Amino acid sequence: MGGTGAERRRAGWRLAWPAGLALAACSGSQSALDPAGSEAERVAQLFWVMLIGTGVIWSLVIGAAVYAARVRPGPHDPAISRRLIHWGGIGLPVLALTALLAYGLQLMPELRAAGDGLKIEVSGEQWWWRVRYQTADGRSIVSANEIRLPAGERVELTLASPDVIHSLWIPNLAGKVDMIPGRVNRLVLEPTRTGNFRGVCAEFCGASHALMAFAVVVVTRPEFEQWLSQEAAAATGASSAELRRGAVLFEQVGCGGCHAIRGTAAAGTIGPDLTHLASRRTLAAGILPNEPAALRRWIAAADTIKPGVRMPSFGMLPAADLDAIVAYLASLE
Ligand code: CUA
Repeated sequence: MGGTGAERRRAGWRLAWPAGLALAACSGSQSALDPAGSEAERVAQLFWVMLIGTGVIWSLVIGAAVYAARVRPGPHDPAISRRLIHWGGIGLPVLALTALLAYGLQLMPELRAAGDGLKIEVSGEQWWWRVRYQTADGRSIVSANEIRLPAGERVELTLASPDVIHSLWIPNLAGKVDMIPGRVNRLVLEPTRTGNFRGVCAEFCGASHALMAFAVVVVTRPEFEQWLSQEAAAATGASSAELRRGAVLFEQVGCGGCHAIRGTAAAGTIGPDLTHLASRRTLAAGILPNEPAALRRWIAAADTIKPGVRMPSFGMLPAADLDAIVAYLASLE
């Protein structure tokens, strides 16, 4: 290799910064290498075993190549060469892959065994998530675009889709599982610590596939119970004239044809349930912060934020009407 020392250093940096970025991606709320669930822990363990194993094998192969090309060029003893091909080319791969398979298989049992408590039905829609909590005592609670889980418990998710294939993936908690029209898949999550995580759709499902995410909130059991009973309750009534005006406009404009707000006349099921919209962490399926300004932008121009979305944009409404609707929705704690 030619080049001055400075050129080589620059080349080194060019190689180093992607590695730095890759390492920086190993932690955080959407990383399979920062596990917060029992399945993700095993996936991460398997990843590190494979990384170290392939690193050792790569070093052996490159070492042999350097030896043959640089250290001892020229003809080698045919008997040794044959043995190297048999052991290095057949024996070692068979041993390594068999060991990896056995190791991988022993990580799998029990991962899919469900607990007998909470079940959550999740349906992939274009491009958001319909969520329904089925509790052991028979309650059925509808929500959207956010999954809350009690830490340290096994929760079974049933995954479905009415039209196209999606894939539900919460990297910190578990591997991904497809949501396929006409069948129901299962995924068992067992979060090992509390925290906020991010889930995504991991299967191309249309124009806004990349804009189909959701929040995952893992809390303690008492916090979960408290949240669930709040989520089960109907929306609190509008408490001021401005909020009442917003509620009336919400009906008049037709929002209730697609969205439900329990406790009001709005009972649509095409779009997400909005009964407790203000208590969620994000808007528009994980892509906007849940703030009034973002909510206003979303209502006024949903199609520019999420191309192909089924929700019409309401930018033609007078600004005061938009403000009233936003204020009303932002009050739905
Ligand atoms: Cu849903 Cu990609």
